[in-house]
Amino acid sequence: MTSHPSVARTREELALARARLDGPVAVVMTMGALHAGHVQLVREARKRADAVIVTIFLNPLQFGPNEDLAKYPRTLDEDLRLLGEEGVDLVFAPGPDVVYQDGDPLVRVSAGHLGEVLEGASRPGHFDGVLTVVAKLLHLTSPGLAFFGQKDAQQLLLIRRTVRDLDFPVEVVAVPTVREPDGLAMSSRNTYLTPFDREVALVLSRALRAGEQAASEGASAIRRAARDVLAAEPGCRVDYLALVHPDTLDDVAEWYRGEALLAVAGRVGPTRLIDNVPLVVGAEERR
Ligand code: PAF
Repeated sequence: MTSHPSVARTREELALARARLDGPVAVVMTMGALHAGHVQLVREARKRADAVIVTIFLNPLQFGPNEDLAKYPRTLDEDLRLLGEEGVDLVFAPGPDVVYQDGDPLVRVSAGHLGEVLEGASRPGHFDGVLTVVAKLLHLTSPGLAFFGQKDAQQLLLIRRTVRDLDFPVEVVAVPTVREPDGLAMSSRNTYLTPFDREVALVLSRALRAGEQAASEGASAIRRAARDVLAAEPGCRVDYLALVHPDTLDDVAEWYRGEALLAVAGRVGPTRLIDNVPLVVGAEERR
């Protein structure tokens, strides 16, 4: 039988428990409702660190007024059971009053223009909210390593920039997206999908796959291949399909050759989903 990991709910409990952890410490930050993607983050973290801290904090600052904060899945008992099985050393599961002890913070981390495109265009202020809590949780947990999923590619890029631009003493490690056998990217929001919507949602990973398969033919062919797949599924209302440079998030030109990110966001029923694949424009597909 596995036991729950030790759980800190206050800053004081965290500081005491953190002081007892030796060697390189890794953090995996989550908003709970854990799935196989989070488990993979924890497993990668355990390979590199002597101790792993998982934070579970549903961060109100990164949700817009019309977003799903109130109905976001909360599964703390199940999350703790899972993290116990994975041998996590410490879970920090604070409430909003612990993280934002003076209420909404007056001073925040600004994502700048990289936070205004793609996800940021649909979710104004989202990335400022993400980066502000990530900065606070890095300070509170003081890890040497921090693991984030490639599934949230724009978030990952912005966290890398925060760490670099603001000199956080931590190494950011990216972990590839975990997918269901049929291609659906793991996401806590998948629990919102009805069986019908779930079938429709597969169009996102199918479109990315089609784009990948056209990688050797150049940017226009990649965009066209992915767009054609999306167009054939009217049940998904596409927010954006973008082929961008992985560091600048600028659209790549037709003549571009090199690393790129093919990213998509769409609404299936009431659920907004995102997905992406890194690819090399102009290169034969990797098998
Ligand atoms: O990716 C997430 O779950 C969240 O954006 C994060 C990084 C835990 C910050 O709240």
